[in-house]
Amino acid sequence: MSTTHTNIVLIGFMGSGKTSIGRLVAQRLGFQFIDTDALVVERVGLQVAEIFARHGEAWFREQETAALHSLAILNRAVVSTGGGIVLRDENRTLLRELGFVAWLTASEEVIFERVSRNKKRPLLQTADPRATVHELLAARRPLYEEAAQFTVDSSRLTHEAAASLLIAEARRAFSWPTR
Ligand code: S3P
Repeated sequence: MSTTHTNIVLIGFMGSGKTSIGRLVAQRLGFQFIDTDALVVERVGLQVAEIFARHGEAWFREQETAALHSLAILNRAVVSTGGGIVLRDENRTLLRELGFVAWLTASEEVIFERVSRNKKRPLLQTADPRATVHELLAARRPLYEEAAQFTVDSSRLTHEAAASLLIAEARRAFSWPTR
């Protein structure tokens, strides 16, 4: 972890609560909140689903890496990332350089229940989304594990409780004085 970049980076599967919990953490710490999907959307001028439809996943991944590079000088921010950001080796290195990396996870059942409420995710527009979630999770779990310094299972936690756990651990990681 970089000691010059006081950022908290949230990784994890779609539906793991990165955005909602990340916003809370940022609010409580008085940090800026950044979402890599939102950065890509802003840079490209298209929604994520449209980017996948028009340009394909590989091109989206290029934009995701470019967005990460653009954050190199960031400080005092909470960065929420797209669920597939850990797929590239280069990204996993960049994430570590950016700050304290925490993996937000949840049980497969909880994840599926959460992602089913939103039909916008291009990777889950398959004949059997439940099986897709299972396969993607199995393939990505080792990558989240490798990239993260800390893990929070949000399945049974309120967003507030998950945010408190993250803040406590970030305090330790950055050796911030406790208030
Ligand atoms: C993706 C997750 C999405 C978004 C894109 C691809 C993935 O972000 O980046 O649809 O590969 O898991 P969220 O994790 O914020 O849903």
